[in-house]
Amino acid sequence: MARSWFLHYYFSRSGHLSDPFRRLIFIPTWLAFLTSLFIIVYISSTSKLFMHHHHHDHLLLKSSIGSSRISQQSAFDMPPKSVGVSAWTYIHEDRDPPVWNHTTVRQGIEIRQPVESHQSSDSNGNQVKDEVFHGKDIFLQDYKEMNRSFKIYVYPHRKDDPFANALLPVHSEPGGNYASEAYFKKALMKSHFITKDPSEADLFYMPFSIAALRHDKRVNVGGIPDFVKAYIYDISHAYPYWNRSGGADHFYVACHSIGSTATRKAEEVKLKAIQVVCSSSYFLTAYVSHKDASVPQIWPRHGDPPNLSASNRKKLAFFAGAMNSRVRKEVLKTWKDDSEIFVNSGRLKTPYSDALLGSKFCLHLKGFEVNTARIGDAMFYGCVPVIIADYYDLPFTDILDWKSFSLVVPSLDIPLLKRILTGISSDQYSALQRNVIAARQHFKWHPFPVDYDAFHMVMYELWLRRGSIKVPLHG
Ligand SMILES: *[C@@H]1O[C@H](CO)[C@@H](O)[C@H](O)[C@H]1NC(C)=O
Ligand SMILES: *[C@@H]1O[C@H](CO)[C@@H](O)[C@H](O)[C@H]1NC(C)=O
Ligand SMILES: *[C@@H]1O[C@H](CO)[C@@H](O)[C@H](O)[C@H]1NC(C)=O
Ligand SMILES: *[C@@H]1O[C@H](CO)[C@@H](O)[C@H](O)[C@H]1NC(C)=O
Repeated sequence: MARSWFLHYYFSRSGHLSDPFRRLIFIPTWLAFLTSLFIIVYISSTSKLFMHHHHHDHLLLKSSIGSSRISQQSAFDMPPKSVGVSAWTYIHEDRDPPVWNHTTVRQGIEIRQPVESHQSSDSNGNQVKDEVFHGKDIFLQDYKEMNRSFKIYVYPHRKDDPFANALLPVHSEPGGNYASEAYFKKALMKSHFITKDPSEADLFYMPFSIAALRHDKRVNVGGIPDFVKAYIYDISHAYPYWNRSGGADHFYVACHSIGSTATRKAEEVKLKAIQVVCSSSYFLTAYVSHKDASVPQIWPRHGDPPNLSASNRKKLAFFAGAMNSRVRKEVLKTWKDDSEIFVNSGRLKTPYSDALLGSKFCLHLKGFEVNTARIGDAMFYGCVPVIIADYYDLPFTDILDWKSFSLVVPSLDIPLLKRILTGISSDQYSALQRNVIAARQHFKWHPFPVDYDAFHMVMYELWLRRGSIKVPLHG
C-alpha cells in the first residue's frame, strides 16, 4: 500500500510521465532501482562489520607474531623509562575497536545525566554507607560465612628454592605501583584462611609473583609465559589437585599489566583458573570476565587519609601522567587550555597530593591498560574518581555500586566532560564524596589485614568463585 501510494504520488507529480504506457514501463524500473538501492545499503552495512572483524584479526595476528618473535629473541627488556610495558601491550592499546562513527550516532541524542539516580539517595548521613553496596545485608552475612569457613591451600615452596624470590612472600613492606600483588600474598600467608590440609581447601593458590619474575634476570618479561607453563607442569605432576578440576579451583594474583601475557603458553590457566588481576579489561583476551576477578591497583599510603570538603576544592577536575594512550591524548587535546579542568602531560612540579586534595573530581584515564593506581589515589584524598577507561571491569564491582562513589564516563564523551561534571549539583557531589570516604576502606591494604579491607574484599571475590567439583582420581 505504502509503496504504491509513493509511486503514484511521485509519478503524478512528474508531468512528462503522465502517459499511462510510459508509467507501466517505469514501474518495474523503479522497483528494480529501489531493490538495488536496498541491496547496496545492505551490503555496505554488512561489509562494514566484516571490515572491523578483519581489522581485529589482523591486530591479533600481529600481536601474536610480534610477541613470539620477541620472546624468541628474549628481547623483552624494555627501555628503562617504559614502565616495562611490552610490544604486546602497545598493540592492546590499539585494539579499542572503532566500531561505528559515534559522532554520527550521538547527534540528536539527549546527553545522559550520569548521576541522576543519586538525587533519591542524597539523604541522611547514616544511609550513606549502605549506598556503596549493591546489597549490604547479603554481603555482610555472606562475608561472615566466608570469614569463618573459606580455606586456601598454598603450594609449598622451600626457602632454598631457586625461585624463592618469586614464590615466597616478601619480608619488607610492599611498595610502588604493583604493591597489591605482594600485599595479597603476604596477608594471605599469615591469615586464618590458610590450610595445610588440601582435602579441606576450597581453592589452591599458585604463589608465583609476576612482578618479581619481571625483575628476575633469569626470567624477564619474555620468560614469564615459559615459567608459568613449567609451573603448571610441575604442580600437575607432583600433586593430584590440578588434574582433579582441570585447574578450575586454582588461582594466581598479578597486578602488572604484563600479567596478561603470562598465560600465553598455558592456555588452561587462562581458560580455567581464576586470575586475580589489576588489568581487568573486558576487551583483553587474556581476561575472562565473570571467571576472573579484578583487584584494585593501589599505591600504598600510610596514616589517616586527609579529608577536605568540596568547598575547599578549587579545581573542577585534574589529571597528570604520561600521554601514553589515545584517551589521554584526547583529554589533553580537548581540555589543555581549560580554566577548570587541569590536564598535565607528565609529572607535576607541585606535590601530587595537593592536586588530589584541591580538585573535586580526579580523572582516571586509561593508559597502556585500563588500570592505574589513580582510583585509589583519588579515593585516599577524598576526590571523586572519574573513570574514562572503556571496558574496565572495575574492582569489586559485583559487591560495590560504583555509581554511588564515582563517575564512569565513556571515552566518547570526552568532549562533553565539562558539561557532565558541571551538571552535577552540589548535593549530588556531597553524596558522591561521602560515599568515596565510606568506600575507601575497601581500597586499602594493611600489613595486618582488617575486616573489609582490600585483602578481605579479594578473598570475598574468590569465595564467590569457589565450589568447583573435584573429581577423585584413580590410584
Ligand atoms: C563522523 O561523522 C561525522 C558526520 O558525518 C563527521 O563530521 C566526522 O568527521 C566523523 N568522525 C570520524 C571520526 O570519522
Ligand atoms: C573474621 O575472622 C577473624 C578471625 O577469626 C575475626 O577476628 C573477625 O572478627 C572476623 N570478622 C567478621 C566480620 O566476622
Ligand atoms: C595430570 O595429567 C597429566 C596430563 O594428562 C599427566 O601427565 C599427569 O601425570 C597427571 N598428574 C597426576 C598427578 O596424575
Ligand atoms: C576523615 O574522615 C574519616 C571518616 O569520617 C575518618 O575516619 C578519618 O579519621 C578522617 N581523617 C582525618 C585526618 O580527619
